Amino acid sequence: MGLRIGDTAPNFEIDTTEGKINFHDWAKGSWVFFFSHPADYTPVCTTEMGRTAQLAEQFAARGVKPLGLSTDTVEEHKGWMNDVNETQNTTVGFPIVADKDKKVAELYEMIHPGESTTAAVRSVFIIDPNQKIRLTMTYPMSVGRNFAEILRVIDALQTGDKHGVATPADWELGGDVIIPPSVSMEEAEKKFPQGFKTVKPYLRYTTVK
Ligand code: BEZ
Repeated sequence: MGLRIGDTAPNFEIDTTEGKINFHDWAKGSWVFFFSHPADYTPVCTTEMGRTAQLAEQFAARGVKPLGLSTDTVEEHKGWMNDVNETQNTTVGFPIVADKDKKVAELYEMIHPGESTTAAVRSVFIIDPNQKIRLTMTYPMSVGRNFAEILRVIDALQTGDKHGVATPADWELGGDVIIPPSVSMEEAEKKFPQGFKTVKPYLRYTTVK
């Protein structure tokens, strides 16, 4: 059985481009965007690493630490990061796990043998400050991830946690949110004094800041 939403993110100790880390110690108190890559010196991965670095301020503003992974060595990662910095006009400032023996990739089920028996697919784990897995996404090797969506789901999770709400299809930060059906009308009136719109008893919209 794979890792599921609500599971504690498994701990590991491993070398990275920024030295050895104990994952739980490194992540403590932060949200984490943990994302895997098939291999160093590959084109799609190069653009994704660059995009993550370019979005450093956006991740930091949300209290999120990015952590990359591919099944190559620290030396290979470091050489590749020079290329990422050069070609993507950025400076990579987050660690990349050197998972040469696939220990972490197997722990997080990032290797999907039907796609490749040796390289990780493009997995995403969004992990909260309590080290719970809050979101997983899995992309094939040939498709680069959508970083606007990654930031959007982090915003949705953080907004949901803060206000006890859910978010509708295609929600963006600042948009109307949904009062969960588990909240009674009486509770909703107390909890959302700003008011709410009842479209159906189970479909109620409100606004939060
Ligand atoms: C890439 O990152 O460009 C890539 C890696 C493995 C397979 C296909 C593309």
